[in-house]
Amino acid sequence: MSAFAYKNGSLHAENLNLADLAEKHGTPLYVYSWQQMADTYNGLANAVSDFDATIVYAIKANSALGVVKSFKDLGAGADVVSIGELKIALAAGVDPRKIVFAGVAKQQHELVFALQNNILQINVESLPELLMLEQVAAEMGVVAPVALRVNPNVDAKTHAKITTGKAENKFGVEFPQAIEMAEYCKKSTSLSLDALAMHIGSQLMDLSPFRAAYRKLAALAKEIGGLKRLDLGGGLGIKYKDEVVIDPVDYAAVLKDEVAPVGLPILLEPGRSLIAHPCMTPTITLSRWLSRRL
Ligand SMILES: Cc1ncc(COP(=O)(O)O)c(C=O)c1O
Repeated sequence: MSAFAYKNGSLHAENLNLADLAEKHGTPLYVYSWQQMADTYNGLANAVSDFDATIVYAIKANSALGVVKSFKDLGAGADVVSIGELKIALAAGVDPRKIVFAGVAKQQHELVFALQNNILQINVESLPELLMLEQVAAEMGVVAPVALRVNPNVDAKTHAKITTGKAENKFGVEFPQAIEMAEYCKKSTSLSLDALAMHIGSQLMDLSPFRAAYRKLAALAKEIGGLKRLDLGGGLGIKYKDEVVIDPVDYAAVLKDEVAPVGLPILLEPGRSLIAHPCMTPTITLSRWLSRRL
């Protein structure tokens, strides 16, 4: 149920009148419903409670400190894609052991900072990135916790610009290369291959791409062996008009079928689906401003 509803003709966030908030604080104003954030987060967390699952909120969806801290208070970790987002997660008090550093083309100084802060895993998207991470870790005298982002070549059936799991997309390595990179990690004294990661796209409204991708990921995980966890990405869609969204319970059923048999803990990286609906941005329009002056 939405925390944003009309009462006596004016839009409210829980019990607060948005027009009053806009007058008081000025606009554009970002108004969040803690209750709806909690309900949304707990809806997913409860659906996957049979698994050893950690939800790492994808900060790129909304990096406001209060939002990140709220999800941290609900039990979430963080999925970050830059040193800036990593600093936000740490400032919000997120446990570094629940922080995943994803994103393409991380810079050396970002890797150094991530390793200094002993975060859970660094998602590597290419061989050059793996080699850079190995060198940074060797110079620091530490072992880098690696998750290899793989590309399952599955069509997420979402908008082309937010489809990331097809072979022609730039994200992640193809399976044969992942196997070679896994072998490389096993021989390296500065790399620990802890996980496989994937994220096939955003705003998915259909479970079948998840099922197909997770089935492939599970088979690859078994082939590579010795992993500590699987990172399943984000991608759950939200309702903009009259779309039917994926129920977290149905999503969990796919995880049970496809991922549970591997017997590894899982990470989920939802962004949009956690924060889109609990947030509103009231704006005072020019006509309203004029009508107050006339
Ligand atoms: C690697 C990765 N994980 C998670 C997410 C979050 O996806 P969503 O907001 O669709 O849940 C994204 C979004 O781009 C991503 O690239």
